[in-house]
Amino acid sequence: MKRLMISTFFFVIACLAIHTSSAQAADTTLYHMQQKAYVYAQMDASTKATGSLQASARFYAQPASDGWLYVPNKKGYVQVEYAQPLNGEYVVVNAENIVLYKAATKSSQKLSSVISQSVAIRYNDVAAGWSLVSYNGTFGYMPTSVLAAPTVTETKVYVTDAELRNKPTKSAPVMAMIPADVELQVYTSFLGWSFIANDTYSGYVKTADITDNTPAPVMKKIALTFDDGPHKKVTPQVLATLKQYDAKATFFVIGEEAERNAAILKQAASEGHQIGNHSFSHDRLSTLSIRAVIADLEKTNAVIQRITGTKPTVYRPPFGAITQQMRTSISMPPILWSLDTLDWKHRNADKTVDVITNGAKDGAIVLMHDIHQPTADALPRVLEVLQAQGYTFVTIDEL
Ligand code: NI
Repeated sequence: MKRLMISTFFFVIACLAIHTSSAQAADTTLYHMQQKAYVYAQMDASTKATGSLQASARFYAQPASDGWLYVPNKKGYVQVEYAQPLNGEYVVVNAENIVLYKAATKSSQKLSSVISQSVAIRYNDVAAGWSLVSYNGTFGYMPTSVLAAPTVTETKVYVTDAELRNKPTKSAPVMAMIPADVELQVYTSFLGWSFIANDTYSGYVKTADITDNTPAPVMKKIALTFDDGPHKKVTPQVLATLKQYDAKATFFVIGEEAERNAAILKQAASEGHQIGNHSFSHDRLSTLSIRAVIADLEKTNAVIQRITGTKPTVYRPPFGAITQQMRTSISMPPILWSLDTLDWKHRNADKTVDVITNGAKDGAIVLMHDIHQPTADALPRVLEVLQAQGYTFVTIDEL
């Protein structure tokens, strides 16, 4: 657990470094000069120096090739042997009336006063009894004795419309807006501010913006549709599976089959599934006159209404074959699909599962056929996987 915390901290520090100095590249590190060294325009110490870095100077640099660092502020290169990387870790200032000093002595210049319980970054360049720290972006020294390793005071918190700042003050610029569904940890809270972090965010938010409540998961909806039934053997199995998973679906039935398997159709409707019209005999409606199409759909609606007591509100043309005239002349909306399982073609339960679980999206309409045994066999796995992904299974009218 401890090891995990420590590695988390180093990751968070990297994030903070990026946030607080956005001009720095991701591989930029803070260095400390161990002795004075010259800066060169090229990685070649035999050329004329363009500048220098004094002993104890702190600067950001990026590793260049063999033995050299690139120093963006100096627009030049320095030899890595004179520089020591400074690795930071979070610390909480655990005392009142603390000051950030310019040097490791109380007689030196006071850079700023420090708020108790606020967070600093401590670096590995430590004078006796003093720590080099970065506090709200300013480098200085604080007594090591007042700095404590941060402990997580609250895990799994969330925020509402929280502005993330690198300092605990409203005058600090907003580094990011944290979305409401992101899980965070709180490291310390003081004066109405909390220092929060996760793998992506770290910084201060108003404590009032923090909540313990997990946001309600966004429910994704998907409409499973079954065509060409009812089938005397496959449809009852599909209905049993849907009931087991408390899933609703839409059955686009053929009028002839509805008459043949009326009891099954009645059961489907009574169990809360939507019944749509799929024509009387599965003719390619786009080849018929519009008058014949309307007559076919009305005849089918009458059969379904007689059996279930409810007149369909939607239809699906067989083969998806639809004309512009059908779109404008038929009062029911045509319902096609966004995800075709091709279950009629491959007749393979594994393939049906793969197509649906790979292609599922919020608002998808999935085309299947409740006349093929492998489709009924695939359904428990489909429901299991999608339910675990947060989907609810709704009828076309509920989508
Ligand atoms: Ni069909």
